[in-house]
Amino acid sequence: MQEEKDSKTFGRILLGIFGGVGLTVLCIPFVTPALRRHALPYVPATREQLDNIFNLLKQYSTKQRRHLVDLGSGDGRIVFEAVQQGLPRATGIELNRVLVYYARLKALTSGQRKICQFKRANLWKYDLSKYDTIVLFGVDTMMEPLLKKLSKEIADESVVITCRYQFPINCDRTIGEGIDAVWLYNSQTIRNQKILEK
Ligand SMILES: C[S@@+](CC[C@H](N)C(=O)[O-])C[C@H]1O[C@@H](n2cnc3c(N)ncnc32)[C@H](O)[C@@H]1O
Repeated sequence: MQEEKDSKTFGRILLGIFGGVGLTVLCIPFVTPALRRHALPYVPATREQLDNIFNLLKQYSTKQRRHLVDLGSGDGRIVFEAVQQGLPRATGIELNRVLVYYARLKALTSGQRKICQFKRANLWKYDLSKYDTIVLFGVDTMMEPLLKKLSKEIADESVVITCRYQFPINCDRTIGEGIDAVWLYNSQTIRNQKILEK
């Protein structure tokens, strides 16, 4: 009787330890972005933001877009919405392994593995020249350095759409209000950037 009680207690202690360790390991990727130079935490896009991105894209041009990239793709919602809206391919770049595996699993189970791809990569080191549609839901402090990176890499006829925060230059088009606002910049605007004083 006493032996059975001891073994149950031991089982609970082990469960507590492994459960706690497992939970900590899962949480680490969500905490570490706060320690980076450009702290970019995981905040998923709202339904309104998603609608604004693709309405803006349609309003701006009727040209069929070929390949969208979402910089910091989180659970992949912008990537999945892109193919839903008729883009033939979309790719998500994300540092958080948990989110990358989650998005890959969703792509696999929904039969979209070939058209929705998720790469574990650092957006600052990733070559953006092969995408004609670049989306970012970033933070204020990263907008100017990212604009510099894009001005060197952006391909002709590509567009960049930013959510919630805009680049410190005039945009080509914008829609939405407050936290759901989105801005569109074409490649010429990005290359001929004239940084506005804050
Ligand atoms: C504001 S969330 C946006 C998520 C998604 N794009 C959406 O709209 O639902 C920013 C994402 O960028 C990721 N991230 C932060 N720094 C990154 C980096 N250097 N390279 C790639 N992804 C990064 C975060 O893990 C987070 O998931």
